[in-house]
Amino acid sequence: MGPMMDLQTVRKNAADRLTRACRVCRQCNGVACAGQIPGFGGVGTGSSFIANAEALAKRKLNLRVLHDAGRPDMRTSLFGLDLSMPILGAAVAGVRVNRMDGITELELAEAMIGGSRLAGTIGMGGDGGDPEVFEATIAATAEAEGIAIPVIKPREQDALIESVLRARDAGAVAVAVDVDAAALVNMALLGQRVEPKTAEQIREIVRAADGPVILKGIMTPEDAVIAAEAGAAGIVVSNHGGRALDHTPGTADALPGIVRALRGESGENGTCCRGGGQGSGQLAQAAGQAAGRAKSQIAVLVDGGVRSGVDVLKMLALGADAVLVGRPLAIAAVGGGAEGVRLQLEEYAKQLHVAMMLTGCASLADVTGKVLFG
Ligand SMILES: Cc1cc2nc3c(=O)[nH]c(=O)nc-3n(C[C@H](O)[C@H](O)[C@H](O)COP(=O)(O)O)c2cc1C
Repeated sequence: MGPMMDLQTVRKNAADRLTRACRVCRQCNGVACAGQIPGFGGVGTGSSFIANAEALAKRKLNLRVLHDAGRPDMRTSLFGLDLSMPILGAAVAGVRVNRMDGITELELAEAMIGGSRLAGTIGMGGDGGDPEVFEATIAATAEAEGIAIPVIKPREQDALIESVLRARDAGAVAVAVDVDAAALVNMALLGQRVEPKTAEQIREIVRAADGPVILKGIMTPEDAVIAAEAGAAGIVVSNHGGRALDHTPGTADALPGIVRALRGESGENGTCCRGGGQGSGQLAQAAGQAAGRAKSQIAVLVDGGVRSGVDVLKMLALGADAVLVGRPLAIAAVGGGAEGVRLQLEEYAKQLHVAMMLTGCASLADVTGKVLFG
């Protein structure tokens, strides 16, 4: 595709190709594709995907224009990398099982990871019942010189750790496990075993990874605290784009309670967090302090229904450090490869810039609950 490529053309190309998986709706909110797995839809009635969109739509912003925040700075850093924007590419994978036509597994992984890197941020790659999915993720990770996060399914422990080591060998900045895929339809369809993970298994994964581990698919304060105490460097508040369990709340509704459990009511480190240690004595106190530190330092990412820079701002105001975008970037990948993904991410960055300016936020540290109306 030539230099004339724009987002409209990219989306038109994608709509021509993706007919069996996704309708490329103007509003990507889970309504038209409810229940369509395989495909891009939400599981069951589609209510979890729809709830993601609704939880964002109901939040309103305070328009502020009398201030000196005329040149907002949206740079951030995560897992030791400086990023141009607080927006990452989510893992969207499984071209065969999800009936995505017009793109190979490797092309998809390269576009999601390479396009995110072109935009100055990080893209994730997936894992699936078909071995070619993780192979594509590893190849794209190595090609991107490790500026990528492979997301591994919660397979039986030995297989999971083997994949963690492969991600590490490919140079990945961090590795994630989509723990909410413990009973994923697409894995069951291909006869692949996945399971819920215990805190002890998470600790073992953290030890094996020897680098940042992210748990994706955290929807309650309880799971968030277990993740932090087991040594995870980050969580993704996510319901897998509504694909794991029907009738979960929207992620924007789940996020504030999780942030409170990790950072405390005040939102300030140190003043809040009850330590995880039980009993009294110095050891218990030290364990409690370590748990408190883990909770205040863990990165909180979120995804589900983020479709604009305004949605990004809302998620950050609700307490996230950064967001992931799934379907719209996969659509851009199908319609325009890495360049399409870059264009879509840069469009969100432009919108976030405007949204920060019009809510009086000079930097991401200024994006707090204050920007939300009511
Ligand atoms: C077709 C499809 C495939 C996906 N594959 C994966 C995957 O391999 N690993 C993973 O962690 N999440 C996967 N997801 C979930 C996304 O990473 C992400 O959590 C979700 O799509 C975010 O919501 P959004 O699409 O509304 O932005 C997939 C989602 C879709 C729609």
